[in-house]
Amino acid sequence: MKRSVLVVAAILLGIGAVAAQQDVIDQSHALMKANGRAMGGTLTPMVRGDKPFDQAAVDAALAALAESAAKMGALYPDSVKSVKQTADYVPSPKIWENRADFDAHIARFNAAVTEAKGKIKDLDSLKAALPGIGKACASCHETFRVKNS
Ligand code: HEC
Repeated sequence: MKRSVLVVAAILLGIGAVAAQQDVIDQSHALMKANGRAMGGTLTPMVRGDKPFDQAAVDAALAALAESAAKMGALYPDSVKSVKQTADYVPSPKIWENRADFDAHIARFNAAVTEAKGKIKDLDSLKAALPGIGKACASCHETFRVKNS
């Protein structure tokens, strides 16, 4: 009797851990997709002239990016390191092999967003500031994101 209770508890704990891993993985992908919307759906189309400059939309996009920079560090815990993910892009094992460098990339991304926040007042200043953010995305992806095979 006692034993079967323990077995059930162990199974439930196991399921709980897997659900928690999946939850954090879902959050990391949702966060990156929000980054994609802020850049590819709002800021880049303004720079290209496909959408009119809109300060409120710029501010909302920058707020989303700042929130993303603040949350990102917690969304790649050791517990998800060996989980096989199914999205098109997945985290590189380098995140866990070289955590300090990954964290430094997050800090640089955060700094680029913070700097842009104080500077963007019109289309010209958006044009000047956006590449700094784009570079921070790209330089992290270069090292720490891989195409799923
Ligand atoms: C510090 C590292 C880092 C920064 C900075 C970063 N990303 Fe990512 N990005 C990743 C990793 C790792 C993945 C793959 C795993 C995931 O989606 O959680 C990813 C995946 C993505 C994806 C694919 C999402 C999916 O579900 O497959 C998009 C889109 C994306 N990033 C956009 C951006 C944009 C836009 C920025 C900048 C505004 C950005 N990212 C900044 C590390 C980063």
